[in-house]
Amino acid sequence: MAFSLLLVACGLVAFCLYSTVQWLLTCRRRSLMKRQHGCLPAKQLPQLDPIMGTDIVMQNLEAAKKHGFLDLLRTRHATNGLTFTTNTYLRTTINTCDPTLIQNVLSFQFQDFGMGPLRRKSASPLLGQGIFTTDDEIWAHQRALIRPSFVRAQVTDFSIFGHHVDQLIALISRRNYEVDLQQLFFRMVLDSNSEYMFGESVGMMSENASEAATTFHHALDYAQQGTILRLRLGNLMFTHRDQKFRESCGTVHAYADKFVAQALEFRRQQSSFPSEKMDKDEGVRQKYVFLNELAKDTEDPIMLRDQIVNMLLAARDTTAGLLAFVFFMLARRPDVWDKLRADVLEHYCEPLTYEALMDMKYLRYVIHETLRLFPPIATNSRMANKDTVLPVGGGPDGKSPLFVKKHHVVTYSTFVMHRRKEFFGEDAEEFRPERWENLRPGWEFLPFNGGPRICPGQKFALTEASYTIARLLRAFSKVENLDPTDWREQLTLSLTLNNGVLCRLTPAE
Ligand code: HEM
Repeated sequence: MAFSLLLVACGLVAFCLYSTVQWLLTCRRRSLMKRQHGCLPAKQLPQLDPIMGTDIVMQNLEAAKKHGFLDLLRTRHATNGLTFTTNTYLRTTINTCDPTLIQNVLSFQFQDFGMGPLRRKSASPLLGQGIFTTDDEIWAHQRALIRPSFVRAQVTDFSIFGHHVDQLIALISRRNYEVDLQQLFFRMVLDSNSEYMFGESVGMMSENASEAATTFHHALDYAQQGTILRLRLGNLMFTHRDQKFRESCGTVHAYADKFVAQALEFRRQQSSFPSEKMDKDEGVRQKYVFLNELAKDTEDPIMLRDQIVNMLLAARDTTAGLLAFVFFMLARRPDVWDKLRADVLEHYCEPLTYEALMDMKYLRYVIHETLRLFPPIATNSRMANKDTVLPVGGGPDGKSPLFVKKHHVVTYSTFVMHRRKEFFGEDAEEFRPERWENLRPGWEFLPFNGGPRICPGQKFALTEASYTIARLLRAFSKVENLDPTDWREQLTLSLTLNNGVLCRLTPAE
């Protein structure tokens, strides 16, 4: 007995000694690295509780509740500069809106940063091992898997969204032209994207949408809100015990599983009857279905489900949010509406073509200006997967090299960066699409991210948004704002309007 106790005590002492030596060696290596690169610490946001950061967390939660989180971020950057650090839950976060620093994290030093275990853990109940939560080889494999789906032929095929816009226009008319456009855009984008991805539309635009469709729609929203809450809780994620959240994730998965089973059946048929033969025999060209294409490369049902749920989420809220903000601005700016409508009508052709859309320059400016002021992914982050040094961010002016410890987080805000006067001029706060006539920004305009993880759906989203806007401006001659209030931020995984886009449209003669 005594001998066993002695053994345990010796083991403990050896472990403590080993840990202490390791810790000392790491400290020495880190201070050498800092000295070699001339690193200076970043400015630190003044905190009452610099260890757990309860003051910062409370401030963040309070601001989010009042729809003012992004404004709070802007105020912090206005007083502390482009880059500063905060400490929360024993972790240091580097907060930045410096394009040089962001470019290094996302591109030049891509290998040093990843999504990290925190993001994976918070999002995995909904997103599993999907493209948004994985790093390294698993991510690279998934990225390679979806790449062929974004070739130009698929992206510019308007048959994917044409009849969903028809349905939208018909629905606006049935509702006597007074609608919340944001709500309708969310339904329409879910319908068109689900058709592209599953081969079958969810059917939310129909007045009598099925119960399964409505349940799926609500479950997707609830599961997404829960995911963002878990992300905000960080290391305290274990306190999130919401049965409805788990059930909502289950509902979303069950809905997707139905289509995964169909895709695997398609795969079995394909291996029995190669596609060329089937096409020729049936005399028809098969409709492009994203999930079927994925199923050619893998028959792992969970992998297929994770991919499709990630894609659906990536595509729905961002594109619908962009459309909502475009019409939010148009309803408040009749001058921009008139100019945009003139541009659309000048180049419009029946049926509308990709080339005609490309000729609508002012339409492009309006979309860029909306993405600048209201980027759908308004804040984002990466975690250092090893000790590293960034060339900027350190020192009181943020211009010296900055040491980043393994597992420290870099959070960047495109919302704040896109509104900085030093990048976009004195009128950076103003909605002025004309600025894009001469603007060729670099990393200071980043709605679709940059580097190897740049949004693969960028072209798809811009085409869907341009097509929808052009069709609506052709169908309606006027838009009137029915909401006297300013925009109120609704920040989940993407940025939307808490007050929606209430407006009255006038049908064109
Ligand atoms: C206006 C619309 C859109 C915006 C502003 C947008 C923006 C972004 C941003 C900022 C990211 C980077 C996220 C991160 O790294 O944390 C991203 C990633 C991604 N987006 Fe989009 N997106 C849009 C539409 C779409 C659409 C329509 C699709 C698919 C059809 C799509 C698919 C993806 C995927 C799969 C990723 C993950 C890429 C990776 O990690 O390698 N997006 N998007």
